[in-house]
Amino acid sequence: MRISVIGCGYLGAVHAACMAKLGHEVVGIDVDSRKIAELAEARAPFYEPELDALLKEVQETGRLTFTTDMSAAEGSSIHFICVGTPQKKGENAADLSYVDAAVTELLPYLSPGDLVVGKSTVPVGTAARLSDAVQGQETEAHLVWNPEFLREGHAVSDTLHPDRFVYGVSDGSEDHPAVAALDEVYALPLSAGTPRLVTDHPTAELVKTAANSFLATKISFINAMAELCEAAGADVTRLADAIGMDDRIGRKFLNAGIGFGGGCLPKDIRAFMARAGELGADQALTFLREVDAINMRRRTRVVELSRELCGGSLMGKRITVLGASFKPESDDVRDSPALSIAAQLQLQGAIVTVTDPKALANAAKRFPELHYETSSEKAVQRADALLLLTEWQEYRDLDPYELVTSVSTPRILDGRNVLDSAKWRAAGWSYRGLGRP
Ligand code: UGA
Repeated sequence: MRISVIGCGYLGAVHAACMAKLGHEVVGIDVDSRKIAELAEARAPFYEPELDALLKEVQETGRLTFTTDMSAAEGSSIHFICVGTPQKKGENAADLSYVDAAVTELLPYLSPGDLVVGKSTVPVGTAARLSDAVQGQETEAHLVWNPEFLREGHAVSDTLHPDRFVYGVSDGSEDHPAVAALDEVYALPLSAGTPRLVTDHPTAELVKTAANSFLATKISFINAMAELCEAAGADVTRLADAIGMDDRIGRKFLNAGIGFGGGCLPKDIRAFMARAGELGADQALTFLREVDAINMRRRTRVVELSRELCGGSLMGKRITVLGASFKPESDDVRDSPALSIAAQLQLQGAIVTVTDPKALANAAKRFPELHYETSSEKAVQRADALLLLTEWQEYRDLDPYELVTSVSTPRILDGRNVLDSAKWRAAGWSYRGLGRP
C-alpha cells in the first residue's frame, strides 16, 4: 500500500520505517528539514535501538523516502498523523496545534476513499472535531483513530509486534470500510495473532490516555508504598515482588524509584485531567492529581536523601549523577526526573557532574548550567557521592570493588533500586535505596 506518515519524531520516524518493513511504500513528511535530511540518509535523529539498522534496510529497498513537502502525501491511500501533542505552556491541557496544522495541510492532497489515521495521543473529542473536515463532501476520506502504544527504547519491536491494535472508526462498526483498509496495512502482525479491537472514536482516544494513566498510577502506587516502607523500615522491592506474584496485580511497572518522566506519562495524565474538567467529569480523575504529586515528591525526596548521604549538607559536595535520560535505551530527556534532580542539587550548592551513554547532548540543551562528562570513569573520579538515577545496563553492572578506589568517599544513592545493596555495602559503600532499609 502507499502510505504517508506525517510527523517524523519518536513516533513517526519509527512508524514510517516499520510500515516500509511490513512491505508498504512509505513517504515520511516533517516540517523540520534537519530531521528529514538525517532520515533521508538513513540516520535516526534520536537514539532508538534497532532504528538505524532498520532505516538502512528499508531505504535500500526503495520503499521509504522522506521529504518536507506535504504534497508528497498525494497518491497515498493511508495517511498517518504522528505529530506531537505536548503540554501547553503554563497549562495542563495538550497543545493540539501540530495535529490541527497537519490535518489542515493534508486536506488538499486527499482523494476520495483515503484514510487519515490519527496516532498521536489526543484529548477525547479530537477525532470528532477533525472528522467533519476529513469526512466532508469535498474529500470523502475517512478519519480513524488508531492509538500507538510503543515504548521508547523498544519502539521498533513494539511497532512490529504490538500487544493489540485499536481502530476507532466513526460508527464503531466492524463493517466500516476503514477496518478492512487498516487490516491490510497491518496484515503481517495480524496474521501473527495480534488482536485488534474496533471501537468508536472517543473510546479509541480514551484507550490510550487510560492506558498511560493506569501505568502512571501503578508507578505512583509503588512509590507511595516506598514512602511507607521508609517510614516503617520495610523493603519496597520485596513488597513489590510479593504483591506482583498475584496475577491480578503483576510485577511489571512496580519498580519504586525516582518516578516517571518522559514525553508521555506526565503530560498525558495532566491533559487527561484538563479534558475531564472540560467534560464536567473532573471528579473522576482527581486521583491523577495525587498520582502526579506522589511522582513529583520523589524528586524532592532524592534531594533530601542525597543531603543526608552527604552528611547533612550539599554545599560544595561533588556529586556524580549516573544517567540523564528519562529511562535507559533512550536519549530523550523530556521531563527527565534524573536531570531535574541534578539541577536541584546544583541549585542547593552541590558541584554536580552528569554522565549518560546517549543523552548528554539533549541534556546540555535543556540544562546548559550543569556540568557533563561523557566518560563515566572520569565522571566518578573524586566524587563525594554517586547517584544512580537512570538504570542503564552499564551502571547496573558497575563493580563496587573497582569503583571504590576512584571516588573520594564511597557513597551511593540507588535511585532505581537496581543494585545489590549487600554487595555494595560489603565493598565498603554507604548505600541508600529508595523505600529500602
Ligand atoms: C509510555 C507507555 O509505556 C507506552 O505504552 C506509550 O505508548 C508511551 O508512553 C506513549 O504514550 O507514547 P515511554 O514514555 O516510552 O512509554 O516510557 P515507559 O516505559 O512507560 O516509562 C515511563 C517512565 O516511568 C520512565 O521514566 C520510567 O523510568 C518510569 N518507570 C517505569 C518507573 O519509574 N517504574 C516502573 O516500574 C516503570
